[in-house]
Amino acid sequence: MKLFDVYPRYDINLVRGEGCWVYDDEGTKYLDLYGGHAVISIGHSHVRYVDRITNQLSALGFYSNSVQMDIQEEYARKLGRSSGYPDYQLFLCNSGAEANENAMKLASFHTGRKKIIVFEGGFHGRTSLAVEATDNPGISAPINETKNIIRLPFNDIETVRSVFSEDVAAVMIEGIQGISGIHIPDDHFLRDLQWLCHERGALLILDEIQSGFGRSGEFFAHQYADVRPDIISMAKGMGNGFPIGGILIAPHIASRPGMLGTTFGGNPLACAAGLAVLEVLESKKLLSNAMESGEHLLKELENIPGIESVRGRGLMIGIDLILDAKEVRKELLFKHKIFTGSATSPNTLRVLPPLKIEKEQLDHFLEALKKVLKDETISIGK
Ligand SMILES: Cc1ncc(COP(=O)(O)O)c(C=O)c1O
Repeated sequence: MKLFDVYPRYDINLVRGEGCWVYDDEGTKYLDLYGGHAVISIGHSHVRYVDRITNQLSALGFYSNSVQMDIQEEYARKLGRSSGYPDYQLFLCNSGAEANENAMKLASFHTGRKKIIVFEGGFHGRTSLAVEATDNPGISAPINETKNIIRLPFNDIETVRSVFSEDVAAVMIEGIQGISGIHIPDDHFLRDLQWLCHERGALLILDEIQSGFGRSGEFFAHQYADVRPDIISMAKGMGNGFPIGGILIAPHIASRPGMLGTTFGGNPLACAAGLAVLEVLESKKLLSNAMESGEHLLKELENIPGIESVRGRGLMIGIDLILDAKEVRKELLFKHKIFTGSATSPNTLRVLPPLKIEKEQLDHFLEALKKVLKDETISIGK
């Protein structure tokens, strides 16, 4: 059987990972500044993570949500404390898109309304309504057209105010736009959205799937703006690679049996992975490391010739180059053995490393980037 050919892939076969490094089948070592698309939060194969999952697997690999599960309760308590939302409720699922589907469905149940306001440049997943909420017509099929999504310009509160009708169930926005190339919503834009949602009886959904779990230097990126969304969607860094997603739900939103559900969501292995992530984020002070390392990187990047602009928070950084980022990423990967991320805009390179990245590793990247940009500029000039 052939694989369904939907992923453009590098011809590299990774077989092992440790911390911020990954290794291919020939033993070549690569620095991972991409984290498998912002997924690796505490580092590859962290010993605490491996132990937690292995022990859970030996005890009980799976049971469904038809029975009590202490490990789910333990995870909810710990996540509440770590995230600053101890009074919120937790619904667990398996991926980012599924988290957003549930967030929008819950907003619709709660308000009895149908429309969701989203923003240009936003990415919210590839399923049903999440893909319609995503600003990329190329990945949306005719069946995904519900006409329930209203897409508006980013950071423009007056337009939101002018189209906010009575059938709006929620406004959904990324804590930091990731795939579009790292665009941060203005703090006052988020605060105004929250105010507008409250005033009009709609909910504010923060998609923290990429920007959450310490990546921005805060637990959630929206915490820089001091807002408290009604629903927060999560995935990626939450499981450090183990498939887990979820939504945090404000106390004023009531549940009823059967309202949301999934077979695999909140399974014991996923909770074990999630607990290990929270424990390591805390014990290794990875949020502070993300903040400090990110500041160092932003400062150094500003002085490199060939870079037009840089932006970001913590370890979620977008670099606009004067050259095509695809070629630069290839050079970084094949010549310097460094993985980096792409973005929708062709000149943007994204840096999304594990949150335990060290200064020396970032300096190694900076040196490599300088060389690549110099060589590429010369070869184009020739
Ligand atoms: C902000 C954001 N939301 C949602 C998703 C979808 O997550 P998943 O691929 O786990 O479905 C992504 C994935 O890149 C994302 O970056």
